[in-house]
Amino acid sequence: MTMNTMHRLAAGVLALAGVAFAAPAMAAEGAVVPPRQSWTFSGPFGHFDATQLQRGFKVYREVCGNCHGLRLLAFRNLAEEGGPGFSESQVKALAAEYKVKDGPNESGDMFERPARPADRMPPPFANPQAAAAANGGAIPPDFSVLAKARTYERGFPWFLFDMVTQFQEQGVDYITALMNGYEDNPPHGVEVPAGKYYNTYFPGHIISMPKPLSDGQVEYPKTQDGKPQAPETVAQYGKDVAAFMMWAAEPHLEARKQLGFRVLSFLLVFAGLLYFTKKKIWSRVDGHALTH
Ligand code: HEC
Repeated sequence: MTMNTMHRLAAGVLALAGVAFAAPAMAAEGAVVPPRQSWTFSGPFGHFDATQLQRGFKVYREVCGNCHGLRLLAFRNLAEEGGPGFSESQVKALAAEYKVKDGPNESGDMFERPARPADRMPPPFANPQAAAAANGGAIPPDFSVLAKARTYERGFPWFLFDMVTQFQEQGVDYITALMNGYEDNPPHGVEVPAGKYYNTYFPGHIISMPKPLSDGQVEYPKTQDGKPQAPETVAQYGKDVAAFMMWAAEPHLEARKQLGFRVLSFLLVFAGLLYFTKKKIWSRVDGHALTH
């Protein structure tokens, strides 16, 4: 081993140790750690629940979509495998409810037309300035990758377990907690400026988004006995919309997890084959033969 590689190794070990010691500090500095929820899409066999994604999309469309865009999502994605499972005709009808800008036409003018399945979802605001002006200066972030972008450090030693168990649900746990984290009466001594709100789980607690959800606000599809498919509560709306946002951020999650599982099974079988091959080859070489 040369001096150079030794230096590099030492630097690597130090960097790893640094991560281990830095993690608890990051966890302590942020807001309250969101409670963990159970998700159908967690773990190596994770998959999305299409009915939950449809409910989440409804919550998005009727509530969040008034402020938050989903600019990477095309309507036709909603009919793709591993997603909410809308039919082609449902997607067509849905797209037609939105207007998109197109053009220029023959006389050089831009015009509006009903959206088609291949169109991306139109943004709720014409530009960032309009979004900020309507929201007290804060811009509602686009939802396209938000569920994967919002993570937090669970701190040592949890992040080691999280690596092994493939815990990737920080974002959805956080969004669910955020929906349920509004407090009308902030803790004693906390000033909430006009037009801002107090949320237990938002880093810094003072958020520009008004409490978006309340019980009974969004009507869910009914089951055969006439009851809603899932409780029409903030707790459930929050989970459903978070699941939908997770799908929007990673539409191919199911395929990725299936591939990962296949690769791992292959490696296991391959390791077994190698072991028996090695045994077979070396069985012919006994200690006695080697001494000759
Ligand atoms: C009236 C407009 C409005 C509505 C409706 C709305 N939001 Fe927001 N949202 C905002 C604004 C503004 C921000 C930026 C907050 C800030 O930075 O203080 C925000 C921020 C967020 C964030 C990011 C928080 C962070 O960590 O930065 C999430 C997640 C979010 N909203 C989820 C939702 C969900 C889910 C819904 C629907 C149930 C929703 N929002 C409905 C205006 C809105």
